Amino acid sequence: MSREHLSQALRRIAESGTTAMTDRATALREAGRDIISLSVGEPDFDTPPHVLGAAQVALNTGQTKYTPVTGTLRLKQAAALHFRRDLGIECRPEQVMVTAGGKQAIFEAIAATVSEGDEVIVPSPWWVSYPQMVRFAGGKVVPLITQAHHGFRFDPGDVEALITSRTNWLLLNSPCNPTGAVYSRELLRGIGEVLRRHPQVLVLSDDIYGPLNYTGEPHATLAEVCPDLADRICTVSGVSKSHAMTGFRIGVATGPAWLIEAMGRLQSNASGNPSSISQAAAVAAFEGPQDFLDQWREVFRARRDLVVGAIREIPGLSTPVPDGAFYCFVDATPLMSRFGGDDGKLALHLLEHGVAVVAASAFGGKDGFRISFAADEQVLAEAMRRIAEALE
Ligand SMILES: Cc1ncc(COP(=O)(O)O)c(C=O)c1O
Repeated sequence: MSREHLSQALRRIAESGTTAMTDRATALREAGRDIISLSVGEPDFDTPPHVLGAAQVALNTGQTKYTPVTGTLRLKQAAALHFRRDLGIECRPEQVMVTAGGKQAIFEAIAATVSEGDEVIVPSPWWVSYPQMVRFAGGKVVPLITQAHHGFRFDPGDVEALITSRTNWLLLNSPCNPTGAVYSRELLRGIGEVLRRHPQVLVLSDDIYGPLNYTGEPHATLAEVCPDLADRICTVSGVSKSHAMTGFRIGVATGPAWLIEAMGRLQSNASGNPSSISQAAAVAAFEGPQDFLDQWREVFRARRDLVVGAIREIPGLSTPVPDGAFYCFVDATPLMSRFGGDDGKLALHLLEHGVAVVAASAFGGKDGFRISFAADEQVLAEAMRRIAEALE
């Protein structure tokens, strides 16, 4: 297969930087090297037993056939409950779309609406797939650059300064992968005020890490804070991160009827329904007990504190305290001359010393790396020891 067979759309995108690093770490491990992988974006907890039980029941009762393309009514009802209970968003089951992971929902929303030359504002550092999805659709990525010293947050005025007549989406992600930044209600209210002046702009709110918020405040999301804007907000959530179900591949989205219909039209021709077994498991995830999340949050908070404390003791490294998700975005600017200013080389150097992390540049950042702290405390302590040694 040679390059000329590739579509224009595909030529505009690259493989995900996080997947590439994880694959590299796996290859080294298979070759016998002792590598701690802090490059992946998934909780290390087991999927809760009641979820596994629901998947078993689905298998044993023959729920192994096609379902409606956009998901079973049962799961849409459970997802509507989740949107109302956990995100404060009122929606009817018909306004819910079930996808194969949150990723597919975001891809579909963008692919269904972005045309050549459309502009999409994406806060950076960003989740690796956002810019690729926008470029695949022919859109132009407009970075909304955020800084570590400002906790990787932005002001509503920064958004307004980037809006043009070609802007059709603003992407929001709180808690954020890769920075852990959490948007306050006040910031969301300010963003809402800006959006009221620009009716052409749609908002994609990626709330996949919503339950993993360590601020002590309830999770806030735009469609709840500004319900008058709900007819142009697509909110994406799921079970991958909150219920340690990354392999099940279930995401959910809610938004205006026309958009949900458009996403469904795409899905009906691209993949069809998400796995029937996984849908049954996701019903149990949304409707079953949620109290284990309190414990997970505590564990993640302790790990975060361990990692942030260790980073701050390594000369040349710094990071703000992440308020959510399970990532630390580490700045290594004072050390970059040792790596020719290339944070890809810094990440490879750390890999040589037995720790896989992802270079900041994979996320539209620079001069640093992202650590996932979804690993147990002993493993994290050893990883931080290796990083300190590697950068001595
Ligand atoms: C910010 C963000 N959004 C969406 C997703 C997609 O999650 P899923 O595994 O449900 O497709 C991820 C996964 O890493 C993520 O980090």
